[in-house]
This record gives sequence, C-alpha cells and structure tokens, in this order.
Amino acid sequence: MVLEIRKYGDPVLKRESQNVEKIDDNIKKLLDDMVDTMREASGVGLAAPQVGINLNVVVIEIEGKVRKLINPVIIEKSAEEENVEEGCLSVPGIWEKVKRAARVKVKYTNENGEEVIEEGDGLLARAFQHEIDHLRGVVFVEKISSLAKNLLAKKLLKMKKETLKVIKEEEGIKL
Ligand code: CO
Repeated sequence: MVLEIRKYGDPVLKRESQNVEKIDDNIKKLLDDMVDTMREASGVGLAAPQVGINLNVVVIEIEGKVRKLINPVIIEKSAEEENVEEGCLSVPGIWEKVKRAARVKVKYTNENGEEVIEEGDGLLARAFQHEIDHLRGVVFVEKISSLAKNLLAKKLLKMKKETLKVIKEEEGIKL
C-alpha cells in the first residue's frame, strides 16, 4: 500500500524516532508499505518519519536490492568524505551537494530479527547516512553549504508554509 509522503515543514520530520521493540506484523506491513511508497515515488530510500511514523525503520533499494533496516545505527565512518548532489522525497524539486563520509559501516536488524552488519560506499553509503539522519529529525537541506542554504531560503520557507497549510486543512476536515 502506498502511503502519503510527508513534506518539508511537517513537524514529524523534526522528531527523534524511537527504536522498534518487537518485529510484529505491523512492522512488517510498515516495511512493505514503505517499499511500495518508495517505488511509487521512484526513490532509492525512505525513512519511517517520511510516512508520518517516528520509528527507527528505513528502506533502501539500490540496483534492484531491497534492504529493510530496523533500528539502524552507523558504527563506523571513513575519514574520507564525498561532496555529492542528493535529493529527498520529502523535499521535492531540490537537489544540492552534501558532504558525507565516503564509506560507512551500519548495524541493523532485518525483518527476520537477525542482526546485520553491512559496509557500503558510493550511493549506498550516502543512502545509509541520509536515511539515518531522518531518524534523528535531520533533513538533508540542513546539511548543505551556507551559500546554498541562503540561495534556497525563500523556496524552503515557502515549502514549509505550504506543508503547514495542508496539515491545518486536513486537521480541519477531521473535526
Ligand atoms: Co530523505
């Protein structure tokens, strides 16, 4: 099932996410729905806060391989960094360079409850870092250069206002 992707300015993207305590059917369903949502939006990664859920859950699909990460943490980072352009499904239309570690090692639990330790470089390393940032309430536009931030300030403020307006309208409908 495809879920609604929360946009920049939504408070859910700013909150710290909580660890998953038990991998039950709800978590498995969430992982499947997140994969559907990521594919529908042609993304390579998606974190649970982006679908309005503050749990430490991430999906990544690169070169046809789907990863479902529960409670992921970065346990090692290379000193070497890469400054590469990236985007985010929650910040449509914006692509900016972000400096990130070239290689990272992550530890997570897969949907079968097994502990996985995986090393990634290139796009995978970038996706691990970008998605785990989401779990800490960090969106990539907060990590771009101050020059790029200044250039984008108006656009981002407009997006934030629009998001908050939509949330308000939806809340109004519920009443
Ligand atoms: Co993102």
